[in-house]
This record gives sequence, C-alpha cells and structure tokens, in this order.
Amino acid sequence: MSRGKFITFEGGEGTGKSTQVDLLGSALRNIDISVVLTREPGGAPGAEEIRNLLVNGAASRWTPLSEALLNYAARVEHLEKTIYPALNQKQWVISDRFVDSTMAYQGCGHGVEHSTLNSLSKVVLGEFKPDLTIIFDLDLETGLARARARGEGEDRYESMGRDFHERLRHGFLDIALRDAERCCVIDASMPIDQVASSIRKLVSERLHVKLP
Ligand code: TMP
Repeated sequence: MSRGKFITFEGGEGTGKSTQVDLLGSALRNIDISVVLTREPGGAPGAEEIRNLLVNGAASRWTPLSEALLNYAARVEHLEKTIYPALNQKQWVISDRFVDSTMAYQGCGHGVEHSTLNSLSKVVLGEFKPDLTIIFDLDLETGLARARARGEGEDRYESMGRDFHERLRHGFLDIALRDAERCCVIDASMPIDQVASSIRKLVSERLHVKLP
C-alpha cells in the first residue's frame, strides 16, 4: 500500500524554515493533498515536553550525549504517535527538523561520535527516511540576527558560540553532499517568496506533483 510523502526542512538558526513549512503546507493543500505540519524536537505530546527540556535553560545544561538521547526519545514519540499514522493514512508530513539536526547539532556541533548517532538512528528509524530533505543554507550573521530578532525565548542554542554555528553549517552541507539523492540545499538568503517558489519547484520535480 502506498503511503504519504515525508519532507523534512533542516538548517541552522534563523534560516526561515518555519515560515516555509507553512507556505509549502498551504501550496500542497491547494492541490488537495492532505498535509500534517510538525516539528522536532516535538510534534507529539511527550515529545513537546522533552522539547521544553532541550530548548530552555543554560547552554551547559546537558551533556552532548544526553542531548542526543533526549532528541531520539522525542523522535520515537513523534514517529509512533504522529508521523507513521499520518503517512499510513496517505497524508503528507512536513517536519521542521528531523534526524539530520541531531547529526549536525549533537554530532558536528558538540562532538558526539557519528557512529554513535548512526547506531541510534538504526534503532529508532530502521530503514525509514525522508522522501525529501531541504537544507536551508544561510550565512551565520544573518541567521543569528534573525533568530535573535524573533525574541521568543527558546534561545538555548542561539547562545552557543560562533564556532559551534559554523560547524553546524558545514555539517548540514556535508550531509547534503553525502546524500544528494535525498537532500537539496536552498539559498535561504533569497526573499521569502523566491525561497517558497524554489521549494515548490523542487517538490514538484522530486515528488512528482504539480505545484503552481
Ligand atoms: P527550532 O529552533 O528550529 O525550533 O529547533 C529547536 C532547537 O533544537 C534548535 O536550536 C536545534 C535543536 N535541535 C538539536 O540540537 N538536535 C535535534 O536533533 C533537533 C531536532 C533540534
């Protein structure tokens, strides 16, 4: 039985992912595709509780490995309670962040061994992976300024140093290079409507739908 498509948006802080999740969701609904918009960490009740532990408080609050494990615990809830049921009902799911964020933030950013994260991914995801991952790339100054201007709290990661954010950016670009079949990099410095139109084009080409 065919299932819905699973699209993930990834990237550093302030790259405009959340706005684009909403815009792509509307574009897909306009062509009568039923869509669930979600996010990580979060996207299910228990996962949202874990999110509060992760995004608030001092930067040094968790060891990198604890942080990775908390993200994977949240991901299990998200997959079982939200993502798999929706895909099985042929709905499409767009998630603002997924497993590549753990590799970039906890792996490249905080130095958790990639092999450890790959083992956890194997346990939690098995062979499951997104049909398409869009990686938002943006220079650090613009991204951090945008994230700070939002000023909504949830600023634990924004308070980490410049080198950390530099490693993240390279981490995401490296993921895109290694898995070009699944991933695509978008220049997030373009105006919102241009980014949205590039994403619609990409989704149309890669996932065989006609988005105007
Ligand atoms: P957001 O700001 O995009 O909502 O994401 C919340 C923060 O959580 C963001 O700074 C990235 C971080 N994060 C990780 O460090 N590891 C992960 O696995 C995920 C999903 C997010």
